[in-house]
Amino acid sequence: MTLVIRNSAELQDKVAAWKRSGMLVGVVPTMGALHDGHLSLVKAARAQSDRVIVTIFVNPMQFNNTDDLSKYPRDEARDLALLDEAGVDVLFAPDVAEVYPDGFSTTVSVSGVSAPMEGEHRPGHFDGVATVVAKLFGMTQAGRAFFGEKDWQQLQVVRRMVRDLNLPVTVIGCPTIREADGLAMSSRNVRLSHEDRSMAPLLHQVLQELAASLRAGADVGVALASARAELAAKGFGTVEYLDLRAGDSLAPLAQLEDNARLLVALWLGNVRLIDNIPV
Ligand code: PAJ
Repeated sequence: MTLVIRNSAELQDKVAAWKRSGMLVGVVPTMGALHDGHLSLVKAARAQSDRVIVTIFVNPMQFNNTDDLSKYPRDEARDLALLDEAGVDVLFAPDVAEVYPDGFSTTVSVSGVSAPMEGEHRPGHFDGVATVVAKLFGMTQAGRAFFGEKDWQQLQVVRRMVRDLNLPVTVIGCPTIREADGLAMSSRNVRLSHEDRSMAPLLHQVLQELAASLRAGADVGVALASARAELAAKGFGTVEYLDLRAGDSLAPLAQLEDNARLLVALWLGNVRLIDNIPV
């Protein structure tokens, strides 16, 4: 049975007992509304740790849009059933006051990798992510933490923070899980209209075609521009960015290099989709 804990002192007691008996603790931070992408992280955590904590916390600090926060899907009972089935030891689901008590005054801000793309279009987002992830590392005392490549830039921000602050945790990146039609799984996908849901997989298709043309030697600027035009022609909304960047530093690339990645954020109806693939 998955034990539900809402209080960080209780969590710390539990983890301390595990650690005294020499167990390695893995954590999977989430905002809930779990899908197979999240569950793939749980599976990796189970394989690489003795005890697994999943956290569910819809972190107000990382939402730069109040509408997005209020519409964020929540279904803890369903999530708990999935975690129980997946063999998770503890679901840590604190409320906002537990994470940000009165007087809370600290922000973790990672410069560099946080700045472009999501950083540009969602001001403050990565301060919220870095702060809450640092807190969740502190509260769970986990030795291993599992993050999805779906949020590639987030993964780089967390890695940078862990290195910069010497946090005693190993960050493990896990591949993006997609629907059968190629759409990257996301908790926000349920907000797509029927029509938008049926065109959403074209995004992954355009990315794959773009990657193929870059590998075949196409000019980077020209190929990116024609992919943007294609997305617009297919009926997608505003493309916030579609970039070729170095996978680790996220520096923009004018030429194909090892470790190059395509990263995109765009609107489809009133839902913002992000995706990325290696080239
Ligand atoms: P959330 O969007 O719930 O995602 C939780 C974790 O699941 C993240 O590491 C994310 O990259 C991973 N994930 C989401 N969709 C995935 C997919 N299709 N395939 C593989 N992994 C996937 O990301 C967050 O929450 C928050 O920012 C958080 C890190 C919890 C901090 O609040």
